[in-house]
Amino acid sequence: MADNIKGSETEQNLLKVFAIESQLRNKFDFYARIAEIEGFDYIKKFFDKTSLSQREHAKLWHKWLNFGKAEHTADVLEDVVKGKYSGLGKYYDMCAQKAQEEGFQHIADLFRHISEVEKSNQAMFKKLLASVKDDHIQPDKDGNYRWECSVCGAYFDQKEIPDHCPLCLNEDIFFFKRPFDETGEN
Ligand SMILES: [Fe+2]
Repeated sequence: MADNIKGSETEQNLLKVFAIESQLRNKFDFYARIAEIEGFDYIKKFFDKTSLSQREHAKLWHKWLNFGKAEHTADVLEDVVKGKYSGLGKYYDMCAQKAQEEGFQHIADLFRHISEVEKSNQAMFKKLLASVKDDHIQPDKDGNYRWECSVCGAYFDQKEIPDHCPLCLNEDIFFFKRPFDETGEN
């Protein structure tokens, strides 16, 4: 067996079937809801079953695009932050511009709205990546790290990771180490 898939036609085919299966997974999910609303429970169930099946196919092709190697959280975050779709927000902006030019105002507004969501998600993924790749960050002379709140951006200099954020009081947060030099201090 060849030991690398990069640049092969099989890699291109894997990319294609991954895209097809991913799209079908969503379509079948949407179609199941349509059948459910119209009272076709047995058809809804079959769409649900096949939707899960498409997801498993997509999972298999995704695995072999990585040539069967196990991925770790840092790898997948790296892919989201630096990979092919990391600029999806900007792509939506271009789509919005074109929709506007062609007179599809409502679709242009939707593209702009989703662009903001994607940019916000991307910013959060960057913070998540920082949170799993912070081993290289050194404490200051007193042994403190600079911990940033993932929600409000407030930061706190202390040895241990904070257990809550006294500024935003948000419960759904995490803290990550932030290099001191990024703030222009220390
Ligand atoms: Fe906060």
